[in-house]
Amino acid sequence: MSVSCDRVTIRFRASVEAVSDVSLDVARGEFVAIVGPSGCGKSTLLNAIADLLDPAICEVTGRIEIDGAGRRERTRRDANLGYVFQRDALLPWQTLLENTQLGLAIRGIGKERRLARARELIAMAGLAGFEHYYPHQVSGGMRQRASLVRTLAYEPQTILMDEPFGALDAQNRMVLQAELLKIWQETPRTILFVTHDLAEAIVLAQRVIVMSRRPGRVKAVHAIDLPYPRDAFALRGSAEFARLETTIWQALRDEFRLATETNA
Ligand SMILES: Nc1ncnc2c1ncn2[C@@H]1O[C@H](COP(=O)(O)OP(=O)(O)OP(=O)(O)O)[C@@H](O)[C@H]1O
Ligand SMILES: [Mg+2]
Repeated sequence: MSVSCDRVTIRFRASVEAVSDVSLDVARGEFVAIVGPSGCGKSTLLNAIADLLDPAICEVTGRIEIDGAGRRERTRRDANLGYVFQRDALLPWQTLLENTQLGLAIRGIGKERRLARARELIAMAGLAGFEHYYPHQVSGGMRQRASLVRTLAYEPQTILMDEPFGALDAQNRMVLQAELLKIWQETPRTILFVTHDLAEAIVLAQRVIVMSRRPGRVKAVHAIDLPYPRDAFALRGSAEFARLETTIWQALRDEFRLATETNA
């Protein structure tokens, strides 16, 4: 599915303008990353795309379309949208194994296939042996990995990811980046991936969108012309990677500098 935002502005009733005049188009099967300083409206934008913002506290203007359909013309069910939230949203009363089957169960997938799929992805995410643990019994990084597994398990056509690897240590982060790349390269789906980590954005995405500090605008869009299949580890040492990192950091750095000056 494609995702399109046309002049989207989001204002919280408490008169906070979070997102300002954002237009972006993510084509079907495209992997796009969004980077920007903390508080610039990245999560808010994803929430608007997923139609999760409460109109009582927040006003959205502009148009958001998924596969050409605006919010009134589509139902959540046929949107086929997956969302890995910034904070894991596991059900505390279910084990990791039960949690990861949730989307599959909703889709009516039979018990055996559900279990097989969940176990396979749990192993991929390094959670084997913890299937019967409850979320409060595992670390933040493990909960985050379980959330990722839960979304990948039911294979939504479009996935919104909000810092899905934010709570992971550097090594686990790289392992999961490689896994996500592999999954996406095998079966391309549309991914909109928010991250604080510029290197992560470059390694994964076909395009990197740089947002300004709040109210978040699209400051720059960089195409990442690195061929797939990509090797998440090897790429980091390449000259092209270093060049891209320097270029994009220049756009991003100014936003951090401005944020610091404004807060001072
Ligand atoms: N429910 C809300 N009510 C009022 N203001 C809100 C609400 N949610 C977010 N905001 C404001 O909107 C702005 C953008 O927040 P958002 O969570 O989208 O930022 P972010 O870019 O995701 O930041 P981070 O990188 O730290 O996750 C912030 O100023 C925040 O205070
Ligand atoms: Mg956020």
